[in-house]
Amino acid sequence: MSSKKKKHKRHGKQQTRAHAPAAKINQALQPEKAKNPPARQPAAGNRSAAAARIDWFSNLNQETEHTVMTRNVSKIYHLGEETVHALDDVSVTIDRGEYISIMGPSGSGKTTLFNIVGALLKPNEGNVFIDEVDVAQLDANELAWLRCRKIGYIFQSYNIVKVFTALENVTLPMLFAGVPPDEAQDRAINILERVGLGDRILHTPKELSGGQQQRVAIARAFANRPAIILADEPTANLDLHTGEEIIHLMKEMNREQGVTVICATHDHKMLDISDRIIWMEDGRVKKIANRDEVKIDIAEMREK
Ligand SMILES: Nc1ncnc2c1ncn2[C@@H]1O[C@H](COP(=O)(O)OP(=O)(O)OP(=O)(O)O)[C@@H](O)[C@H]1O
Ligand SMILES: [Mg+2]
Repeated sequence: MSSKKKKHKRHGKQQTRAHAPAAKINQALQPEKAKNPPARQPAAGNRSAAAARIDWFSNLNQETEHTVMTRNVSKIYHLGEETVHALDDVSVTIDRGEYISIMGPSGSGKTTLFNIVGALLKPNEGNVFIDEVDVAQLDANELAWLRCRKIGYIFQSYNIVKVFTALENVTLPMLFAGVPPDEAQDRAINILERVGLGDRILHTPKELSGGQQQRVAIARAFANRPAIILADEPTANLDLHTGEEIIHLMKEMNREQGVTVICATHDHKMLDISDRIIWMEDGRVKKIANRDEVKIDIAEMREK
């Protein structure tokens, strides 16, 4: 038997339902191990480029006090004759470990800010800094690294892969980050247990409730131990009770792991657990309040 065949057989023996796509994806990713900066160095002789590579990695990998800063960020959409100022001169600073809620009426710019901070959308004007690195200066590889390693995304509609099990969904981002398959799988099992899905790891999304799917999305977002979690209306599709559970889970993860959480939401239950609330209106920051001020506001509203 050729060595190729032997290898294949050994691999096949180890494969479980969870391993199959994981192994395939990992194989496809072999040429680029993002976790290991020296592997990204260009060939010897191009020393300045190599130094630049290490420089961007250490810059992107650093953790600073001001995790997210936007400076005079504007986003304009043109719809025929109409110009929509989705964001208008937004400057905010969010510190390490904070739990921030972004609130405001529909159309006020919450999702646009989420997308711009998450490097999913470019502003027309202004700058976004993640751990003091200007996102606009990053090339495609660096942006991919940032999105994969530094930021975890949670969406209203979960956005988990329908044909993958919970375990595969959570394992996938770790494989993209270069974590060996067995370690990725162990970590995925741990985190799924942590979000209360230890007995559902081999279920696909259609076999899970909305709240359980959102738990998978939360587990996936935390999988690469990101510095920042961005969540866009994570409780909007959930009933009151399940929404509360999800909010408390996110807060616990924020406390335990010191992750900075930035959550666009209409859900007033978020107010109680947020360190600060950014209120948006017509694409502008109307007010930034800390939790105590918000509690006073709510008490005043109740008295009236
Ligand atoms: N791709 C787009 N093209 C054109 N206009 C857009 C686009 N995306 C957003 N907008 C507009 O930008 C404004 C801000 O939209 P955004 O989705 O950020 O609001 P939001 O606060 O998240 O609202 P919601 O609470 O309903 O989710 C809105 O007027 C919206 O219509
Ligand atoms: Mg939105």
